[in-house]
Amino acid sequence: MNEVFSTISAVIKNRRSIKPAKMNGKKIPDEQVKEVLKLANWAPTHGRTEPWRFIVYSDDKVKQFCYQHAELYKANTPVEKFEQGIYDKQLHNGDLASHIVIAIMQRGDVPKIPALEEIAATAIAIQNILLGATAAGIASFLSTSGLTHHPAMKNFLQLKDEDVVMGIVYLGYSDEKMEGNRRTEMDEKATWK
Ligand SMILES: Cc1cc2nc3c(=O)[nH]c(=O)nc-3n(C[C@H](O)[C@H](O)[C@H](O)COP(=O)(O)O)c2cc1C
Repeated sequence: MNEVFSTISAVIKNRRSIKPAKMNGKKIPDEQVKEVLKLANWAPTHGRTEPWRFIVYSDDKVKQFCYQHAELYKANTPVEKFEQGIYDKQLHNGDLASHIVIAIMQRGDVPKIPALEEIAATAIAIQNILLGATAAGIASFLSTSGLTHHPAMKNFLQLKDEDVVMGIVYLGYSDEKMEGNRRTEMDEKATWK
Protein backbone atom coordinates (compact mmCIF):
# COMPACT_ATOMS: atom_id res chain seq x y z
CA MET A 1 0.00 0.00 0.00
CA ASN A 2 1.15 3.55 -0.63
CA GLU A 3 1.85 6.48 1.67
CA VAL A 4 -1.59 8.06 1.20
CA PHE A 5 -3.21 4.81 2.31
CA SER A 6 -1.00 4.66 5.39
CA THR A 7 -1.84 8.26 6.25
CA ILE A 8 -5.58 7.88 5.86
CA SER A 9 -5.57 4.54 7.71
CA ALA A 10 -3.82 6.17 10.65
CA VAL A 11 -6.39 9.00 10.74
CA ILE A 12 -9.30 6.56 10.55
CA LYS A 13 -7.91 4.29 13.25
CA ASN A 14 -6.82 7.11 15.53
CA ARG A 15 -10.20 8.83 15.53
CA ARG A 16 -11.69 8.36 18.98
CA SER A 17 -14.85 9.54 20.63
CA ILE A 18 -13.61 11.84 23.35
CA LYS A 19 -16.37 12.91 25.68
CA PRO A 20 -16.71 16.67 26.07
CA ALA A 21 -15.97 16.27 29.80
CA LYS A 22 -12.49 15.06 28.76
CA MET A 23 -11.81 18.19 26.69
CA ASN A 24 -9.62 20.91 28.17
CA GLY A 25 -11.52 24.12 27.54
CA LYS A 26 -9.09 25.51 24.96
CA LYS A 27 -10.68 27.29 22.01
CA ILE A 28 -10.26 26.05 18.44
CA PRO A 29 -9.92 28.97 16.01
CA ASP A 30 -13.22 29.32 14.10
CA GLU A 31 -11.26 29.21 10.82
CA GLN A 32 -10.04 25.70 11.64
CA VAL A 33 -13.55 24.52 12.37
CA LYS A 34 -14.65 26.00 9.04
CA GLU A 35 -11.89 24.08 7.25
CA VAL A 36 -12.95 20.84 8.94
CA LEU A 37 -16.60 21.48 8.06
CA LYS A 38 -15.68 21.98 4.41
CA LEU A 39 -14.72 18.30 4.29
CA ALA A 40 -18.33 17.37 5.05
CA ASN A 41 -19.33 18.85 1.73
CA TRP A 42 -17.32 16.17 -0.09
CA ALA A 43 -19.45 13.29 1.13
CA PRO A 44 -21.03 11.18 -1.60
CA THR A 45 -24.64 12.05 -2.34
CA HIS A 46 -27.17 10.18 -4.45
CA GLY A 47 -28.93 12.56 -6.82
CA ARG A 48 -26.58 15.31 -5.65
CA THR A 49 -29.09 16.38 -3.02
CA GLU A 50 -26.26 17.28 -0.60
CA PRO A 51 -28.68 17.03 2.35
CA TRP A 52 -26.23 17.76 5.19
CA ARG A 53 -26.71 20.98 7.13
CA PHE A 54 -24.86 22.14 10.21
CA ILE A 55 -25.62 24.63 12.95
CA VAL A 56 -22.41 25.76 14.60
CA TYR A 57 -22.17 27.18 18.11
CA SER A 58 -18.96 28.93 19.11
CA ASP A 59 -17.77 30.99 22.11
CA ASP A 60 -20.62 31.92 24.49
CA LYS A 61 -23.15 30.24 22.20
CA VAL A 62 -21.84 26.80 23.27
CA LYS A 63 -23.02 27.24 26.85
CA GLN A 64 -26.17 28.94 25.64
CA PHE A 65 -27.08 25.91 23.52
CA CYS A 66 -26.37 23.55 26.44
CA TYR A 67 -28.69 25.61 28.63
CA GLN A 68 -31.36 25.55 25.93
CA HIS A 69 -30.93 21.77 25.56
CA ALA A 70 -31.30 21.28 29.32
CA GLU A 71 -34.39 23.50 29.37
CA LEU A 72 -35.87 21.58 26.43
CA TYR A 73 -35.38 18.39 28.43
CA LYS A 74 -37.15 19.93 31.43
CA ALA A 75 -40.03 21.33 29.38
CA ASN A 76 -40.62 18.03 27.58
CA THR A 77 -40.30 15.60 30.49
CA PRO A 78 -43.20 14.78 32.80
CA VAL A 79 -42.40 16.01 36.33
CA GLU A 80 -42.39 12.45 37.74
CA LYS A 81 -39.76 11.37 35.16
CA PHE A 82 -37.56 14.44 35.37
CA GLU A 83 -34.03 13.72 36.60
CA GLN A 84 -31.91 16.59 37.83
CA GLY A 85 -28.76 14.61 36.89
CA ILE A 86 -29.81 14.49 33.22
CA TYR A 87 -30.64 18.20 33.28
CA ASP A 88 -27.25 19.02 34.80
CA LYS A 89 -25.41 16.76 32.34
CA GLN A 90 -26.85 18.62 29.37
CA LEU A 91 -26.36 21.97 31.07
CA HIS A 92 -22.65 21.33 31.61
CA ASN A 93 -21.91 19.09 28.62
CA GLY A 94 -20.23 21.90 26.71
CA ASP A 95 -18.31 23.48 29.58
CA LEU A 96 -14.96 22.23 28.27
CA ALA A 97 -15.84 22.01 24.57
CA SER A 98 -14.87 24.67 22.06
CA HIS A 99 -17.61 24.28 19.47
CA ILE A 100 -20.88 22.41 19.12
CA VAL A 101 -22.06 21.39 15.68
CA ILE A 102 -25.59 20.11 15.20
CA ALA A 103 -25.72 17.79 12.20
CA ILE A 104 -28.97 17.77 10.28
CA MET A 105 -30.30 15.82 7.34
CA GLN A 106 -32.38 18.32 5.40
CA ARG A 107 -34.78 16.30 3.30
CA GLY A 108 -34.50 17.34 -0.32
CA ASP A 109 -37.22 17.66 -2.92
CA VAL A 110 -36.15 14.72 -5.09
CA PRO A 111 -38.71 12.08 -4.03
CA LYS A 112 -36.96 9.26 -5.93
CA ILE A 113 -34.08 9.54 -3.45
CA PRO A 114 -35.22 7.69 -0.31
CA ALA A 115 -34.81 9.46 3.03
CA LEU A 116 -32.59 6.56 4.09
CA GLU A 117 -30.05 7.56 1.45
CA GLU A 118 -30.08 11.18 2.55
CA ILE A 119 -29.51 10.01 6.13
CA ALA A 120 -26.64 7.84 4.88
CA ALA A 121 -25.09 10.76 2.98
CA THR A 122 -25.32 12.97 6.08
CA ALA A 123 -23.76 10.25 8.25
CA ILE A 124 -20.83 10.10 5.85
CA ALA A 125 -20.55 13.90 5.96
CA ILE A 126 -20.38 13.67 9.76
CA GLN A 127 -17.61 11.07 9.54
CA ASN A 128 -15.68 13.44 7.25
CA ILE A 129 -15.87 16.01 10.05
CA LEU A 130 -14.72 13.53 12.68
CA LEU A 131 -11.79 12.41 10.53
CA GLY A 132 -10.86 15.94 9.53
CA ALA A 133 -10.90 16.93 13.19
CA THR A 134 -8.65 13.97 14.07
CA ALA A 135 -6.19 14.94 11.35
CA ALA A 136 -6.17 18.51 12.68
CA GLY A 137 -5.51 17.40 16.28
CA ILE A 138 -9.05 18.25 17.37
CA ALA A 139 -10.99 15.97 19.72
CA SER A 140 -14.54 15.13 18.68
CA PHE A 141 -17.58 13.42 20.08
CA LEU A 142 -20.81 12.55 18.26
CA SER A 143 -23.71 12.41 20.69
CA THR A 144 -27.36 11.57 20.32
CA SER A 145 -28.11 12.02 24.00
CA GLY A 146 -30.76 14.17 25.62
CA LEU A 147 -33.41 15.47 23.27
CA THR A 148 -31.40 14.99 20.07
CA HIS A 149 -34.09 12.82 18.48
CA HIS A 150 -37.08 14.42 20.24
CA PRO A 151 -39.54 16.42 18.09
CA ALA A 152 -38.99 19.35 20.49
CA MET A 153 -35.39 19.64 19.26
CA LYS A 154 -36.58 19.81 15.66
CA ASN A 155 -39.08 22.45 16.64
CA PHE A 156 -36.42 24.41 18.54
CA LEU A 157 -34.14 24.30 15.47
CA GLN A 158 -37.07 25.26 13.21
CA LEU A 159 -36.73 22.16 11.05
CA LYS A 160 -39.35 20.52 8.89
CA ASP A 161 -40.99 17.26 10.04
CA GLU A 162 -39.14 15.30 7.36
CA ASP A 163 -35.70 16.64 8.38
CA VAL A 164 -33.63 14.62 10.85
CA VAL A 165 -31.36 15.79 13.65
CA MET A 166 -28.55 13.29 13.19
CA GLY A 167 -26.46 14.20 16.19
CA ILE A 168 -24.62 16.78 18.21
CA VAL A 169 -20.89 16.97 17.57
CA TYR A 170 -18.73 18.38 20.35
CA LEU A 171 -15.34 19.68 19.25
CA GLY A 172 -12.46 20.75 21.43
CA TYR A 173 -8.94 19.98 22.43
CA SER A 174 -8.09 17.19 24.82
CA ASP A 175 -5.04 16.05 26.76
CA GLU A 176 -6.44 12.49 26.93
CA LYS A 177 -4.99 9.67 24.86
CA MET A 178 -7.75 7.15 24.18
CA GLU A 179 -7.15 3.61 22.99
CA GLY A 180 -9.62 2.25 20.47
CA ASN A 181 -10.96 -1.29 20.32
CA ARG A 182 -13.50 -3.28 18.38
CA ARG A 183 -15.49 -6.26 19.64
CA THR A 184 -14.76 -8.42 16.61
CA GLU A 185 -12.31 -8.38 13.73
CA MET A 186 -13.35 -7.28 10.26
CA ASP A 187 -12.96 -10.85 8.99
CA GLU A 188 -16.05 -11.74 11.02
CA LYS A 189 -18.07 -8.98 9.40
CA ALA A 190 -17.18 -9.37 5.74
CA THR A 191 -18.24 -12.37 3.70
CA TRP A 192 -16.24 -13.01 0.55
CA LYS A 193 -17.96 -15.01 -2.18
C1 LIG B 1 -24.93 7.73 15.67
C2 LIG B 1 -24.05 7.71 16.89
C3 LIG B 1 -24.52 8.24 18.08
C4 LIG B 1 -23.74 8.23 19.23
N1 LIG B 1 -24.24 8.74 20.39
C5 LIG B 1 -23.53 8.63 21.53
C6 LIG B 1 -24.07 9.08 22.76
O1 LIG B 1 -25.18 9.63 22.81
N2 LIG B 1 -23.34 8.90 23.88
C7 LIG B 1 -22.11 8.29 23.85
O2 LIG B 1 -21.49 8.11 24.90
N3 LIG B 1 -21.53 7.91 22.68
C8 LIG B 1 -22.21 8.07 21.52
N4 LIG B 1 -21.65 7.68 20.33
C9 LIG B 1 -20.22 7.33 20.29
C10 LIG B 1 -19.96 5.85 20.55
O3 LIG B 1 -20.08 5.61 21.92
C11 LIG B 1 -18.54 5.51 20.06
O4 LIG B 1 -18.45 5.75 18.69
C12 LIG B 1 -18.17 4.05 20.35
O5 LIG B 1 -18.04 3.84 21.73
C13 LIG B 1 -16.88 3.60 19.68
O6 LIG B 1 -15.80 4.40 20.11
P1 LIG B 1 -14.90 5.22 19.09
O7 LIG B 1 -15.82 6.24 18.42
O8 LIG B 1 -13.84 5.89 19.92
O9 LIG B 1 -14.33 4.27 18.11
C14 LIG B 1 -22.42 7.69 19.17
C15 LIG B 1 -21.94 7.18 17.96
C16 LIG B 1 -22.73 7.18 16.84
C17 LIG B 1 -22.21 6.61 15.56
